[in-house]
Amino acid sequence: MFSLSFFATLALVPFVASQTALEIEGIKAHFSQSAIVPDLLASFNPSAFLSLNFPGVGEVKPGQLFAKEQVSPTPTVTVTPQDTSVSLTGNYTLAMVDADVVGSKLPEGQNRHWLVNGVTINGSTVSNSSAVAITSYAGPWPAAGSGPHRYVVLLYSQPSTFKAPTAFSQPNMGVTPFDFNGYVKDSGLGALVAGTYFDVEEGTATASISSTSAVVSSTLTVPVSSQTQKASTTTANNAAATETSKTTSGATGITAQWMEFTVAAAGFALTIFI
Ligand SMILES: *[C@@H]1O[C@H](CO)[C@@H](O)[C@H](O)[C@H]1NC(C)=O
Ligand SMILES: *[C@@H]1O[C@H](CO)[C@@H](O)[C@H](O)[C@H]1NC(C)=O
Ligand SMILES: *[C@@H]1O[C@H](CO)[C@@H](O)[C@H](O)[C@H]1NC(C)=O
Repeated sequence: MFSLSFFATLALVPFVASQTALEIEGIKAHFSQSAIVPDLLASFNPSAFLSLNFPGVGEVKPGQLFAKEQVSPTPTVTVTPQDTSVSLTGNYTLAMVDADVVGSKLPEGQNRHWLVNGVTINGSTVSNSSAVAITSYAGPWPAAGSGPHRYVVLLYSQPSTFKAPTAFSQPNMGVTPFDFNGYVKDSGLGALVAGTYFDVEEGTATASISSTSAVVSSTLTVPVSSQTQKASTTTANNAAATETSKTTSGATGITAQWMEFTVAAAGFALTIFI
């Protein structure tokens, strides 16, 4: 009985870890399918999953379409590391820019809707208690008829060598276009840790905008290297389930995780009822 509950506890840990890894694969796929890579970012390899929660709306699904009123209050931001090798201590810079409609290259730069230096992560919540808000959160207001704009929220590691460029070193700047990638480079920001995006459209598009294909989450797989399962610490059944989730793709991978969860739940049930 001891061993069943012991293994049940162990089995839940990799289940949680691979859920986040799967969510990270999902957001990477969304960034490609919506052309945020390459329109805004040359690449996107996050080590954590970022989630936005707007008052009255709740948790944002990546790429979700909103009316501007729904996303006008400042959201709370939570960040979950991919696995235990990712530590979220230190300072970070949080930004939201308008990457405009799919296909926009924006040579004049991206509108800066949020730029806060020195945020920290308290538990999993992004805290601004010792931060400097260069631009406080300013909700989207895309021009009517301009199509669905992509509002991209990104969290960068901010090393001690970070130095805000003179033009962006003072708080309380309004929303203006700036060269976002130039800012990241010039200020010495570190790795792009996490990100997400949502869409806001005002009125009906008057021009034809390239469409994006939906992300089919059942086709996503988690690279073996980013999984944390250790078969040696699980029961034979769990080891089998873990192996399946490593080597198969899509729905089977998800099923394997459910199997793992079910085995864990069965372990608990046995502990309680035997
Ligand atoms: C984070 O920022 C604070 C305030 O600017 C600074 O005192 C601290 O040294 C920074 N921490 C790291 C790890 O860079
Ligand atoms: C971290 O969050 C907890 C719970 O909300 C709060 O009590 C605490 O003051 C926060 N710590 C910092 C350093 O912001
Ligand atoms: C921190 O965020 C809150 C809203 O979430 C905002 O009211 C406050 O002004 C922010 N403070 C700083 C220093 O950015």
